[in-house]
Parts: sequence; C-alpha cells; structure tokens
Amino acid sequence: MIKRNVNLQARNTLRLASTANACSEINNLEELHQAIIFSQAESLATIPLGEGSNVILQKSIDAHILDIRLCGMTKTKETESHVWIEVGAGVNWHEWVMHSINAQWFGLENLALIPGRVGAAPIQNIGAYGCEVSSLIDSVNFVNLQSSSSTGLAFDSLTAEQCQFAYRDSVFKQELASKTVITSVVFKLDKIFTPQLSYPALKGRLEQLIEQKKLDVIDAALVAEAVIAIRSEKLPDPKKLPNAGSFFKNIAINQQQLNTFLERHPNAPHFQYTHKDLADKIGYKIPAAWLIEQCGFKGQRSGDLGMHKDQALVLIHYRDNTTADTGAVEVIRFADSIIAAVKERFGFILEREPQTI
Ligand code: EPU
Repeated sequence: MIKRNVNLQARNTLRLASTANACSEINNLEELHQAIIFSQAESLATIPLGEGSNVILQKSIDAHILDIRLCGMTKTKETESHVWIEVGAGVNWHEWVMHSINAQWFGLENLALIPGRVGAAPIQNIGAYGCEVSSLIDSVNFVNLQSSSSTGLAFDSLTAEQCQFAYRDSVFKQELASKTVITSVVFKLDKIFTPQLSYPALKGRLEQLIEQKKLDVIDAALVAEAVIAIRSEKLPDPKKLPNAGSFFKNIAINQQQLNTFLERHPNAPHFQYTHKDLADKIGYKIPAAWLIEQCGFKGQRSGDLGMHKDQALVLIHYRDNTTADTGAVEVIRFADSIIAAVKERFGFILEREPQTI
C-alpha cells in the first residue's frame, strides 16, 4: 500500500527529522512493479531504503521511498567446495550471516552484526575486520528503474566483476546510482572453513575466547562471537545513541604519499590495504578516526551532534534536547567543520560515507 507524507524519523538510525512524499512496503515483485508504475505516473524518483543505517535523510524528500522486504534464501548451485545462495534484498544482514554459519557455509563470519539488509551490502561494499563482502558475492540481481514500465519490470544482473567493487564503493554508487532496485544477491560461500584473522584485535579476542572456553579449535561461530564482542564494545548502539556507523571513509594513499605523510607525522597509524584488485593502485590507509581525534573532535559535542567518545569516526545525534529538529543540513554543516579542520591540519579531504537522500 502506498502511503503519503510519511515520517521517516524512526526509519533512519541517525534519527534525523525527515518526511517523504510517498512510501511503500515491498514484499514481492508484483508490489515492486506497482510501486514503480506509481512513481512514474507521479514523476517521483524511486528510492529503495533498507533499515536506514547508512543514510543521511534530507528534511523533505520529494520521492517515493521503497521499504524493501523481499525475502528468501535459495541454494542455486553446489560443488564439492562451494555453495551459491541467492538471498532476498530485504533479509536482515546479521540474520543472514548467522544463518550461513549454522548451515556451515563459510566466509561471512567477520561481517557479523553489521546493521542493514542484504540488498544494501553490495552498494557500499560493506567491510569489517579484514573482509569485504565483494570477495563473497557471485552476482547481484536488480530491476532497472528506467527500463521498467507498466508492461513489466526490467530485470538485470551483474557479476561481481561488473559491480566494480572498491573500498566502500561499487557501480551502484556510481553509474547506476538512483537507477536500480536490488532484488537479491547471490553469494558464493565456502564449505571449508578458513579463519580470516588479519585484523590484529580480532585475533587477540579469539585467543581470549579460546582460553576462556578451553577450546582447541576455532570455528566460524567463534569468529562471529569475537566480532560481535568487538563491535559491541567499540561501536555505539544506534537505539541508544543514534548514528550511521563510520561517518567518513578512511584515507587511501599510495606509498609515496605515505612516506611524505610519515615524515611530518611519524607516529601516525597506517595500514596496508590488501584488496586483491586495488593493492597496486592504493596501497595504504590512514584511519580517518585518528585524523579526527588529532583535530580534537573525539568525544566532543556541538549542539545535538558530536563524534563518539570511543570511536572518533562515528557521528552521534544526541536526542536529549527534544525541542531540536536536527536534520541533514545540520549534520552536513557539522561534518563540513570536521572536513575543514582535517584538511587544514593534514591536507587530506575526508569523504562522507553514508549516502545523502
Ligand atoms: N583510531 C583512532 N581513534 C579512534 C578510533 C580509531 O585513532 O577513536 C585509529 C586507531 O589507530 C585504530 C584505527 O584508527 O587502530 C582503525 O580503527 P578501527 O579498527 O576501529 O576501524 P576504522 O578504520 O575506524 C573501519 C570501518 C568500520 C569497520 C572497522 C573494523 C570504514 C569507514 N570503517 O573503521 O566499518 O567496522 O574498520 O574493520 O572503513 C562502517 O563502515 O560503518 C564501519 C563501522
């Protein structure tokens, strides 16, 4: 059912005041078709929204928002070593991760507890604790909004390679931005478990768990448990402190830029970036959290906005002042003040991570 003038404040984890012209819940492809026909008739942009965990919603959105609930998990192929599972875009991400671990399909365990739904995962190529979802995606199925019409939906699919995955980026944020609704994602998962422990804090936490539980083998459920423990400690719960996860991307630089930077800031943390396709082009990351902390923003509050006391990369919307009506404009103004301070001090230009709608 299509609703008019819908308040989206409870539907975005930053809890920004926002109202959309129209909003529909999409449980199946027929509802998606009807919704697209409505948008076209009303000349409204069609914008899919999952759990609203990686968005900055403008105060007034002149568009038709789709709450994508497409469900289902189907095994489409199996070999001795791998399974291919097609998962509906509306499935909760963490539930899918835990389901895959229970089914003994491996690879997703480092990505436990990331907020959002499956359909959003390829768009910004979600990643954490040494793993990016791009390495586990076989293909992405979607509907092309421009070619769909009252006579039918225009289905399309891209292989992982065609998705042009990069650090927090994909074709769905570039050439195909605003042109598609992702309906399902096909994952290629391993039947044999190999722990990915390149992130030092994860390895440390696992060792602790192994000792506590007196175990002698690591399994995927234990890796997920360690990831959940680290995330719960470091990242604020949006239900208590509204936020959209990392608010800026880390700074990606090459060896020469790193050398110049380290001459001036010898103690700065830096990490080698080992994405299989981009290692040569990028090379190193400087944590944006460190740059922001150095500029004095960690734990600081300005009006109803601030950067978290334990993770300087997470922008918090404090909602203790009930008369305030904080929206995208205030958030972007505050973010701009951080971008300006970091640029002035370090010369790097931070890029916002959540998408503005
Ligand atoms: N650091 C600081 N100050 C802080 C926090 C961190 O100086 O307040 C420095 C430390 O040197 C630390 C380094 O930053 O070693 C990296 O911090 P952390 O491991 O917490 O990760 P991150 O680079 O800040 C990225 C992702 C997170 C993901 C973590 C863990 C991005 C934009 N963010 O954050 O993803 O969970 O790594 O792998 O790449 C998200 O995208 O919403 C998200 C939470």
